[in-house]
Amino acid sequence: MADVFEPRDIIVTGGCGFIGSNFVRWVAANHPGVHVTVLDRLTYAGNPENIAGLPGDRVELVVGDVCDADLLDRLVPGHDAIVHFAAESHNDNSIAGPEPFVRTNVVGTYRLLEACRKYDVRFHHVSTDEVYGDLALGEPRRFEPDDPYRPSSPYSSTKASSDLLVRAWHRTYGVRATISNCSNNYGPYQHVEKFIPRQVTNVLCGARPKLYGTGENVRDWIHTEDHSRAVWDILTCGRVGETYLVGADGERSNKDVLRAILELMGRDPDDFDWVRDRPGHDRRYAIDPTKLERELGWRPLHTDFREGLARTIAWYEGHEGWWRPAKEATEAKYAKQGQ
Ligand code: NAD
Ligand code: DAU
Repeated sequence: MADVFEPRDIIVTGGCGFIGSNFVRWVAANHPGVHVTVLDRLTYAGNPENIAGLPGDRVELVVGDVCDADLLDRLVPGHDAIVHFAAESHNDNSIAGPEPFVRTNVVGTYRLLEACRKYDVRFHHVSTDEVYGDLALGEPRRFEPDDPYRPSSPYSSTKASSDLLVRAWHRTYGVRATISNCSNNYGPYQHVEKFIPRQVTNVLCGARPKLYGTGENVRDWIHTEDHSRAVWDILTCGRVGETYLVGADGERSNKDVLRAILELMGRDPDDFDWVRDRPGHDRRYAIDPTKLERELGWRPLHTDFREGLARTIAWYEGHEGWWRPAKEATEAKYAKQGQ
């Protein structure tokens, strides 16, 4: 294990989105000595309510763009780390309109790396397993940190590009950076455009859930709280320059996840619609988290997926005021795409 890094004042980009806000809440609950500055542009996916109620002397929101170099010059000095979650994150949106993905995910990461270089600030880059492309259904192999990059979608190709920038800025300029590539997260505060919240809120609205293609595609689900702990462990104890894969042995087909949602919500498990497949749809993701487990002693705590899913469903049932405003526009967008 590397020397322990003890940050006191961190910037969390994208801290009003799904995973970023769960991370901010987790840090506030578990590391009360750490001050968090959330830098978030508040796009359609960012919601200040996601971090509402946290102590104002420890969590501060700055509304701004990670591409804004002047803002970074004002904000970054004095902080000891940036944890970078901000991104355009949805594959379907990237297929319909890739430009914001190139801007935020590639240019935004570049600007943050330049600020870290200039002010000697440590950088943790939150990335995705999708940079490795996909695996065949049923094969035993899982992604490993040194696998080749083979991204399929505009989204994953911009995340892959940003990972490569981080690697180069570490090697060439000595920026103290780490990277994590995580599998599919689930939990509270996830936007209704994503698979699990979309289906849960469809059922709550009296609409039928929608399954793409054959429904056989496999995702490797991890509770977002386990991801938060992994990011913290890598930031504080990970080796600079290294990549860690984060996953919780959660492989399931989309059809199985959807049937579980319907059962848990007291519906017929076949009560859904088959819709047009996603172009270039990755078949299977699966993470080998051995490096993270062996080097840093990280283990997932949310190991019962059905129980985590039931709690996530209960969260959406109890937070209609949170998701309802985004639901109609999201479904209108999907309807245009035949999904
Ligand atoms: P999200 O879409 O819910 O949130 C993204 C956040 O970034 C929002 O708050 C948005 O307002 C903010 N943002 C977007 N563009 C910005 C800009 N230019 N400047 C400042 N803020 C901006 O995303 P998420 O699902 O929480 O994903 C967070 C990160 O984790 C992303 O980098 C994503 O690639 C990565 N990731 C996600 C998953 C997953 O399952 N969702 C899995 C692995 C990795
Ligand atoms: O693997 C990590 C990635 O997981 C992250 O990098 C992305 O930011 C995150 O969005 C997620 O990507 P996916 O494309 O896997 O997630 P999504 O929720 O969009 O879809 C999950 C699966 O469900 C995928 O196989 C497509 C399918 N799907 C999705 C929707 C929205 C459906 O069958 N029906 C749907 O309505």
